[in-house]
Amino acid sequence: MSNTSRFVASAVVVLALASVLAFVASHRKAGPTGAAQEAAAPAASVAAPAPRPAVAVVPAGSGLDAIRRGAELDKEIAPPPMARVENTDIRRNRAYPMQPPTIPHSIDNYQIDRNSNRCMLCHARANADKFQAPPVSVTHYMDRDDQFLATISPRRYFCNQCHVVQTDAQPLVANGFKDIDTVLSEPNKAN
Ligand code: HEC
Ligand code: HEC
Repeated sequence: MSNTSRFVASAVVVLALASVLAFVASHRKAGPTGAAQEAAAPAASVAAPAPRPAVAVVPAGSGLDAIRRGAELDKEIAPPPMARVENTDIRRNRAYPMQPPTIPHSIDNYQIDRNSNRCMLCHARANADKFQAPPVSVTHYMDRDDQFLATISPRRYFCNQCHVVQTDAQPLVANGFKDIDTVLSEPNKAN
């Protein structure tokens, strides 16, 4: 073996060792955090937060982009604090039938990939009672021909495609949405 190839060989060994160590370290770190969150998720005792009024941050007609919070284009403003994910464990009302319900708990470090789906640990029919989680509905087991599968349908595997957490961030633009029950209960303006 020449000196150069010996050097290259030992460099490869050192690199491989370093990446194994890094992998083990990151797993150790992720472990307890995930477990702590699992334990925290099912406890429901906090009162549901009052719905936030949808107030526009930027007054209408100011001509400035709400995403810049009304700041002039040539000005820098202090960024607002990071929004916190609402973790109250109180299921929220849906705005319309067949709306994917929003997630009422935090989902930090919940892994969803080819090998594992953390959400199904609690939301699978078989585990739902143990974790007091609502099981995914039958639609989640149907393929595109409406056949029922024994396990979660590939079309519903990546939960956060449709289900999202909510944060305490202020809405950037006003929203006048009313659900159908509110509309029906309003006096009829036509007569
Ligand atoms: C540790 C168990 C656990 C895990 C893991 C978990 N959940 Fe939940 N989930 C719950 C429980 C329990 C509830 C019922 C409300 C509460 O206590 O938070 C719930 C509620 C929900 C709801 C509200 C259902 C409704 O009808 O309003 C959705 C949506 C949801 N989870 C989606 C997810 C998604 C997506 C993931 C993965 C990213 C996930 N959950 C991971 C336990 C879990
Ligand atoms: C393609 C969009 C989509 C994906 C992906 C999806 N869901 Fe849903 N989910 C919905 C819709 C729409 C509803 C409400 C209507 C229904 O039950 O089908 C729903 C309902 C639910 C409910 C409430 C069930 C009930 O009976 O109240 C839970 C819990 C839930 N989903 C969890 C999950 C989890 C966990 C995953 C990932 C394994 C997931 N969903 C993936 C669209 C989706």
